[in-house]
Amino acid sequence: MQTRPLGPGAPSVSAVGFGGMPLSIRGRPDDEGTALRVIHAGLDAGMTLVDTANVYCLDDTDIGHNERLVAKALRTWGGRSDAVVVATKGGITRPKGEWGLDGRPASLKRACEQSLVALGVDCIALYQYHRPDERVPFAESVGALADLRREGKIRWVGLSNVSVAQIREAAAIVPIVTVQNRLSPFFREALETGVVTHCAKEGIGFLAYSPVGGGRLNQKLPSIGALAPIAAAHATSPHAMVLAWVLAQGPTVIVIPGARTEAHATDAARAADLVLTRAELDAITAAAFSTA
Ligand SMILES: NC(=O)c1ccc[n+]([C@@H]2O[C@H](COP(=O)([O-])OP(=O)(O)OC[C@H]3O[C@@H](n4cnc5c(N)ncnc54)[C@H](OP(=O)(O)O)[C@@H]3O)[C@@H](O)[C@H]2O)c1
Repeated sequence: MQTRPLGPGAPSVSAVGFGGMPLSIRGRPDDEGTALRVIHAGLDAGMTLVDTANVYCLDDTDIGHNERLVAKALRTWGGRSDAVVVATKGGITRPKGEWGLDGRPASLKRACEQSLVALGVDCIALYQYHRPDERVPFAESVGALADLRREGKIRWVGLSNVSVAQIREAAAIVPIVTVQNRLSPFFREALETGVVTHCAKEGIGFLAYSPVGGGRLNQKLPSIGALAPIAAAHATSPHAMVLAWVLAQGPTVIVIPGARTEAHATDAARAADLVLTRAELDAITAAAFSTA
């Protein structure tokens, strides 16, 4: 599988990583065995990056569900799990199943301690500030991650759902290794606002989340006319086409699609080695991807 540098000072990882969210939120598989097999399918296909978060769970009584699942998948996998980078996040809450924000330094530090336990590690490889909390000065939240890094509790610092100005502000406090924002043909704001270009310039890994459009919109891909002939030409799925298009948007882009079936995880992994022609990429860029 094609690899790309995760970011400054970090190793290269598979260009297609595993997005853990759908295995732990509403609609997740009923049994743990299925979820573990899906993660194993991704790892078997060569994925060496797994993205999780403390809040990939049903509600505040279930915090850490996805982190515990990922940890168990790595423990029970037959391959070299020490070569897999696990990225988690803090800064979001799940009161009664809703989504909230808490970027206060003490809360981030508490969340990180819980993630260390859930993942069963002494040091988290990549810890990402999940989404800026406007009630807390951004520099104070980032400062908490800098403290955690100094204390050896996290190795690399990442940001998520941020602007170029916020990346610059954070980089003055602590080295920023990755930025995780939404990017798919449905949602191109990371291209339009210059975040992808900025990451490429700085060598920061850009982790494209919801790269096939997320749980609802990805289901529209088979009916998007422009994708069908290109997928047929490469004997692959429209989802893999779209992942290849996202990967082509920048040299530091890494995609982290979610999956709840082994077949989808394996299919997504294949996208890393697809090379689309300029004309094919342009056709996807020009196609209509309605979010309705
Ligand atoms: N930082 C953030 O704020 C943030 C926000 C959202 C997501 N994320 C991260 O990004 C990851 C991916 O985002 P996402 O899960 O929202 O959206 P996504 O990856 O765009 O879409 C996930 C859905 O696409 C389907 N899929 C994927 N590959 C497929 C294939 N080859 N063929 C058919 N269907 C396929 C899967 O369906 P099945 O479930 O049926 O397999 C899956 O549920 C998450 O898991 C999470 O790690 C981060």
